[in-house]
Amino acid sequence: MAAIATILVCFKTTSSSPFLARLASRLHFAAFPLRSPSRKLMTHTLARATLGLTHPADIETPKICFAAKDVDVTEWKGDILAVAVTEKDLTRNAKSKFENVILSKIDSKLGGLLAEASSEEDFSGKVGQSTVLRITGLGSKRVGLIGLGQSPSTPAPFKSLGEAVVAAAKSSQASSVAIVLASSEGLSAQSKLSTAYAIASGAVLGIFEDNRYKSEAKKTSLRSIDIIGLGTGPELEKKLKYAGDVSSGVIFGRELVNSPANVLTPGVLAEEAVKIASTYSDVFTAKILNAEQCQELKMGSYLGVAAASANPPHFIHLCYKPPSGPVNVKLALVGKGLTFDSGGYNIKTGPACSIELMKFDMGGSAAVLGTAKALGQIKPLGVEVHFIVAACENMISGTGMRPGDVVTASNGKTIEVNNTDAEGRLTLADALVYACNQGVEKIIDLATLTGACVVALGPSIAGVFTPSDDLAKEVFEASNASGEKLWRLPLEESYWESMKSGVADMLNTGGRQGGAIVAALFLKQFVDEKVQWMHIDMAGPVWNDKKRSATGFGIATLVEWVLKNGSKAN
Ligand code: BES
Ligand code: MN
Ligand code: ZN
Repeated sequence: MAAIATILVCFKTTSSSPFLARLASRLHFAAFPLRSPSRKLMTHTLARATLGLTHPADIETPKICFAAKDVDVTEWKGDILAVAVTEKDLTRNAKSKFENVILSKIDSKLGGLLAEASSEEDFSGKVGQSTVLRITGLGSKRVGLIGLGQSPSTPAPFKSLGEAVVAAAKSSQASSVAIVLASSEGLSAQSKLSTAYAIASGAVLGIFEDNRYKSEAKKTSLRSIDIIGLGTGPELEKKLKYAGDVSSGVIFGRELVNSPANVLTPGVLAEEAVKIASTYSDVFTAKILNAEQCQELKMGSYLGVAAASANPPHFIHLCYKPPSGPVNVKLALVGKGLTFDSGGYNIKTGPACSIELMKFDMGGSAAVLGTAKALGQIKPLGVEVHFIVAACENMISGTGMRPGDVVTASNGKTIEVNNTDAEGRLTLADALVYACNQGVEKIIDLATLTGACVVALGPSIAGVFTPSDDLAKEVFEASNASGEKLWRLPLEESYWESMKSGVADMLNTGGRQGGAIVAALFLKQFVDEKVQWMHIDMAGPVWNDKKRSATGFGIATLVEWVLKNGSKAN
């Protein structure tokens, strides 16, 4: 085979978190009644147990190697040759043969089987369509057709391509697959790179399964993915490595969100942040503030939310500095870090409230820490980034905040808490004040903030709020590259009317109408006007209901945005 394999980039499909296991085991919970007859023995043996005795398994997973190759597809040897086709690629001539060069070349070796099967199965190349055939006559055991739609212009169909290929590999226990686009000649060098990035990310994230909390882990057989026809060379190699770095951040973010609240407490989240800083200690420093230190900083709004919990709050601050060269711009990423949101005294009730899913209420912080992990590997120049999370739990107890209480935030503003379930904004208030004090030029906060945003935009689109058109432009450019869906919503100042309090500077909730907008207006009260600020409400896209799993939303976009900021000479 005349293979010119110039690239070989391997990355792990799953990262594991021995850290979580180690830390959880350090925490003590009174998991048994104190009057239990065997109390003595139990307290002795349970002193290091997590609530429910759950420990995430430390799963070692195999690496998948990506190789960009320039070979004749009919000569490629392996388990599945996947051909990505647009609807146009499937055009036939008068004799019902494919006009597309690659398809006709493959099909002539298969005696027309591909043309026949695609007609029989009504395969028309739509996104999400795929068909895989067991064959003889090629170097490959199976050949697959994967639909790309009409003429793909976004990363989404290529991400789906990567996902479809690994799904096919899974169902036939393939260990080596190749992906080729039926028509890639027309692509610019730039689009070849972004296509390879999308395919590789789709594949790595598609094959990831979080098995840490299952007593038996499933095994994957896939070891190598060859990408044919998108070129070879150092640029592509760099892009594939980038896909691997970003994906490992996304997987880490998913693992944080998937972790149940009895394991991932605010303390464990803080330890995970510290671990990032110690793993990439050449570029990161970490600072964790305890409740007392937060009190010294007058973070009454954040501490009010944390007050009912037996698991104390941990305020997380990581700082990234480039390994060399000047810093041209300082940024902050702030994430909502509610490891559980019961609603507090305004407890979440009723079937639609999803209280059992509220472990995902730290999705904003997972986005922030997942980005930190990716940047620790990429090490961009020219940019300083602060990662800030006011982590806590929203629980119920005699020490907890009551509806109607007035809390005072660290900028001196007072808030009448008319609803304890609007807690995310209370924690973000103090986190945003702290971020502004770091002397940053731009802040993005991410939060699973309102059910109203899910009602407005559905489960896969995040709402974006910012007074700055420049910042909006930057972030939308980044999300076009990452393929994550954002939609800008207005900061309608007249709606602030509903947030007026009789006793304090403001309420924490207004009426039901425009709930995502008033929440954003609330956050704006805590941001310095000189700072460019954006709020991303990711309550919908944090979670994939069908997959019953976290998405890792936000990370791919944030990494892209930070890198762009670093490479700008300002
Ligand atoms: N964490 C929730 C928001 C949420 C709800 C995220 C559903 C994902 C799915 C947040 O803390 C909350 O409870 N918000 C309230 C605000 C209300 C009391 C003004 C909400 O959206 O109902
Ligand atoms: Mn809430
Ligand atoms: Zn919440």
